[in-house]
Amino acid sequence: MSTTKVLIVAMVYFSTCHAAIPDLTGCEVAAKTEQGYVCGRIRNATNGAKYASFRGMQYGTQPLGELRFMELLPPSSFDGLFNATEAGPICAQVDVFYTPNNLVAPLSSGEDCIRINVHVPYDYLPAINATSNSSNLLPVLFWIHGGSFSYGSGDADVHGPEYLMTKDVILVTINYRLHVFGFLSLDNEYIPGNNGLRDCITALKWVQSNIRNFGGDPARVTIAGQSAGGVIAHLLSISNVTQGLFQQVMALSGHAIAGFYSYSPSYAKLINAIFLPAAGINPLQTPKKIYEDLVTAPLDNLLRGQKVLLDKFGLVSFTPVIENAQPNFTTVIFQSPEDLLNAGAGKDYPLWIGFCSNEAADFKTRLEEVNIVTKLSLQPSLTLPLNLLYSANPLTVPVLTTLQLAEYFNVTSITLEKFLVAATDSYYKYPSHRLAFKRLRVNASNTYLIQFSYPGEKSVLKDAFSQSWSGAAHVEDIAYFFRFNHFLGPQQENELVPTSNDNIMRARIINLIYGNIIVRDAPFDLKIFQYIYIEGPYDIRDEFIIDQNDTYFSNLYSVGGLGPV
Ligand SMILES: *[C@@H]1O[C@H](CO)[C@@H](O)[C@H](O)[C@H]1NC(C)=O
Ligand SMILES: *[C@@H]1O[C@H](CO)[C@@H](O)[C@H](O)[C@H]1NC(C)=O
Ligand SMILES: *[C@@H]1O[C@H](CO)[C@@H](O)[C@H](O)[C@H]1NC(C)=O
Ligand SMILES: *[C@@H]1O[C@H](CO)[C@@H](O)[C@H](O)[C@H]1NC(C)=O
Ligand SMILES: *[C@@H]1O[C@H](CO)[C@@H](O)[C@H](O)[C@H]1NC(C)=O
Ligand SMILES: *[C@@H]1O[C@H](CO)[C@@H](O)[C@H](O)[C@H]1NC(C)=O
Ligand SMILES: *[C@@H]1O[C@H](CO)[C@@H](O)[C@H](O)[C@H]1NC(C)=O
Ligand SMILES: *[C@@H]1O[C@H](CO)[C@@H](O)[C@H](O)[C@H]1NC(C)=O
Repeated sequence: MSTTKVLIVAMVYFSTCHAAIPDLTGCEVAAKTEQGYVCGRIRNATNGAKYASFRGMQYGTQPLGELRFMELLPPSSFDGLFNATEAGPICAQVDVFYTPNNLVAPLSSGEDCIRINVHVPYDYLPAINATSNSSNLLPVLFWIHGGSFSYGSGDADVHGPEYLMTKDVILVTINYRLHVFGFLSLDNEYIPGNNGLRDCITALKWVQSNIRNFGGDPARVTIAGQSAGGVIAHLLSISNVTQGLFQQVMALSGHAIAGFYSYSPSYAKLINAIFLPAAGINPLQTPKKIYEDLVTAPLDNLLRGQKVLLDKFGLVSFTPVIENAQPNFTTVIFQSPEDLLNAGAGKDYPLWIGFCSNEAADFKTRLEEVNIVTKLSLQPSLTLPLNLLYSANPLTVPVLTTLQLAEYFNVTSITLEKFLVAATDSYYKYPSHRLAFKRLRVNASNTYLIQFSYPGEKSVLKDAFSQSWSGAAHVEDIAYFFRFNHFLGPQQENELVPTSNDNIMRARIINLIYGNIIVRDAPFDLKIFQYIYIEGPYDIRDEFIIDQNDTYFSNLYSVGGLGPV
């Protein structure tokens, strides 16, 4: 070995193992990451316990400039102390759900949004220079936010950790690239699709490398998400490039075969044909030129194209897609999720499949805004579950449409109220049953099917929309374990004290998630397959009833060529 090599080896050893602890004056809590030291803040959980909160850390190199559509590069190291006291920028977006209803704070957004937030009960945060050898490591809940693959963030305005931090668990939330940045697929070597999924994998790898230094156990990670986040969490669990990154999965109001999105490459083509011209890009150019135009396009042009798409489709635009392998990208979804599930993909992970009893009720305002009834009347096939519509044998679509109109719209009368019922069943409820049955068929690990129906005495979502509806709608369930800080304002002393049904419900949901999913030592962890109904704080039932709609949808999917289950 030459002298130079020895010197380099020695220097690397010195810098990685003995990096000087920076001056911590003025820093309430600090932790070490592979990139450098980070400074967080001590904050208050709802029960008065303290938690350490590290926000806005960078889990990859920011995808700026020519990196815009590339797989993320590892984060770069830094000297000194990274200020992780406040959230970083959220991903550039057109938000049609949270912002219009005052559920989030107006925040800075941009493409430098590859951020991760780690919240730790204070007593479990290791000393900054402790050897990572605690026997006291906590399980980790890794949360993937919802928002139709198009908007939202992991920030504490909606995903307030204040309730969960009353338990012995570490909460990790992330931002991942959204809409065109995260989910555009040109099905070529430049942009194969699924960048947002790969971002989540990069974040999970960051967790594996770093979470011990925050007191977390990298061998007890639950990935969870709601809506689009549930789709992503579940897709990651049926992919073959995620082994060892997590141990169990919670998919709320969304999973790999949810009916509100399509993974079909033909859907991606349709979306692109609308998006590219709307963003000012000529779709008739060579693939290389289209790619170059996308990389150099001003952010505003791409957001303008995104708005056109959302106004056309209502809530969803770009989505995860079946990819073809490409040299510079990790292939996450190489086959149809239906086929992957049939072959048993992901069956060894325990899975919590959640949905709400009246999912689509809070889409009403948005769907009125985009004049959905007119659109459906012009193209009634759009009343079908979208995964079925774009994956079915095209010749069967007229028959499928006729069946769906007869089942939900009295053949010819398309109204918004009827569409909300059809959407609840087609997008959420039946696909959840279908997924559970697929798991039964392959002898999968513990599977819970959870229907959340509690209307709330004072529901955050009903208040935000100034509307009421029966049961629980999309997003209402998560408000019982995340504090909606922006909407609710400062914490009250009694939010988890059993003085009201809502508070009792919060405590019960937190216990269910903590006990049944995160540590799995609680009462429901008894059987392999359970259907649990959550109607109210005193009404959490465990029973199994075959839904009459299942027969209808099984037939519909059979006619479309996807098989009864
Ligand atoms: C936490 O609560 C204490 C009082 O119990 C208060 O003094 C402190 O300012 C609170 N911290 C934050 C970050 O809100
Ligand atoms: C960290 O950032 C916060 C919010 O921007 C700021 O108030 C604080 O002074 C910063 N701390 C340091 C040590 O720079
Ligand atoms: C750890 O850091 C503290 C100051 O933050 C220092 O007092 C202590 O000596 C350090 N311990 C070791 C083992 O380096
Ligand atoms: C962790 O600590 C235990 C007990 O103190 C010790 O036996 C073990 O060797 C340590 N492991 C590592 C990797 O340092
Ligand atoms: C995942 O599965 C595909 C299709 O069977 C295969 O081509 C690929 O090599 C697999 N990847 C890994 C990492 O196992
Ligand atoms: C893949 O990445 C390498 C290195 O950045 C680059 O030279 C090559 O052109 C890329 N291939 C494609 C198909 O983009
Ligand atoms: C369905 O249409 C038939 C015939 O037009 C009408 O008699 C019936 O009342 C309608 N049912 C509902 C539920 O709207
Ligand atoms: C599932 O389990 C049953 C009963 O233990 C067994 O008969 C069947 O062969 C198993 N099926 C698969 C696909 O492993």
